[in-house]
Amino acid sequence: MGKKEGYKIGIIPGDGVGPEVIREGLKVLKSAGEKFGIKYDFVNYDFGGERYLKTGEVLPDSTLKEFKQLDAILLGAVGHPEVKTGILEQGLLLKIRFGLDQYINLRPVKLFPGVDTPLANKKPEDIDYCVVRENTEGAYCGSGGFFKKGTSDEIAIQESINTKKGVERCVRYAYELTKGRNKKKELTLSDKANVLTFEGDLWRRTFRQVGKEYPEIKQNFALVDATCMWMVKNPEWFDVIVTSNLFGDIITDLAAVTQGGMGIAAGANINPEGVSMFEPIHGSAPKYTGKNVICPLATIAAGAMMLKILGEEEAAKTIEKAIMKLTGEGRIKSLQAGRMGLSTEEVGDLVAKFI
Ligand code: IPM
Ligand code: MN
Repeated sequence: MGKKEGYKIGIIPGDGVGPEVIREGLKVLKSAGEKFGIKYDFVNYDFGGERYLKTGEVLPDSTLKEFKQLDAILLGAVGHPEVKTGILEQGLLLKIRFGLDQYINLRPVKLFPGVDTPLANKKPEDIDYCVVRENTEGAYCGSGGFFKKGTSDEIAIQESINTKKGVERCVRYAYELTKGRNKKKELTLSDKANVLTFEGDLWRRTFRQVGKEYPEIKQNFALVDATCMWMVKNPEWFDVIVTSNLFGDIITDLAAVTQGGMGIAAGANINPEGVSMFEPIHGSAPKYTGKNVICPLATIAAGAMMLKILGEEEAAKTIEKAIMKLTGEGRIKSLQAGRMGLSTEEVGDLVAKFI
């Protein structure tokens, strides 16, 4: 996406700690905006559990249509203890991902200087890779159903749909990303091709076929269970991992812990030809709501990813450097909620100041 005069950004603070981390994310975006002359028009949307409980509305089709006019969306968190599980996840988060065809979920796994990792003897240079998760199909497609529900003969079917088009565009994005990174130039396909033979076959064939266009990139294959082991044992082996929706969901929680926790893990739901959405990977963490103790760095990093994709590379880099300064100087004790030695607000203030 090219640079613009101003950006219209949809803001969905959402539930729980969402509004607090969004407040700090916006603070940092504004500070980078002042420094680099970036203008924003923030449009606030109050979707989430509270609104659903009051009105029964999750995300109207008309609003989804309106989203197509935005330059990007920044989301806090969804999930409310009084709302039945699945309603907000499917009706809000997945509806946006699918509706805006955000077919890439990009999750960088990077250990920032000064941040503790539970992996023994691993340093920032050892943990620096990206996961490219397919984001619009696979097991998330919502296909399936019950047969004889509630009886002793009950059957539940949940299908994983993988289309040639969906796999190909995801794999191609991953090759391009690998090409642009100044690392090993190695792309790993993580799957379960030894058991999920149909989808595994489609993914592997497509991976090899698209790979012909990228002779400079080494192709690597790893079963997803083994991938988990290596992410813990030898994270330095990875440059970029590409995988299906469900596996990508699972391995990126593990990845987040290796980079210091959910407090710093950011993700981007990308439609390279359309509107993308940026979010911290963590959830709404209801028990910490309003306490000013949650780490906002994941949301701040998501804001940097947003600027990068909007074409504001320099501003994005500056935010990333400001985060590294904060962690590197030992100003933040831990990224765990309540153990930062700073409040949510103070973390946002410091990052904004370092910009
Ligand atoms: C994530 C989340 C979502 C997912 C949930 C909330 C639907 O876990 O973004 O990783 O499974 O994709
Ligand atoms: Mn997840």
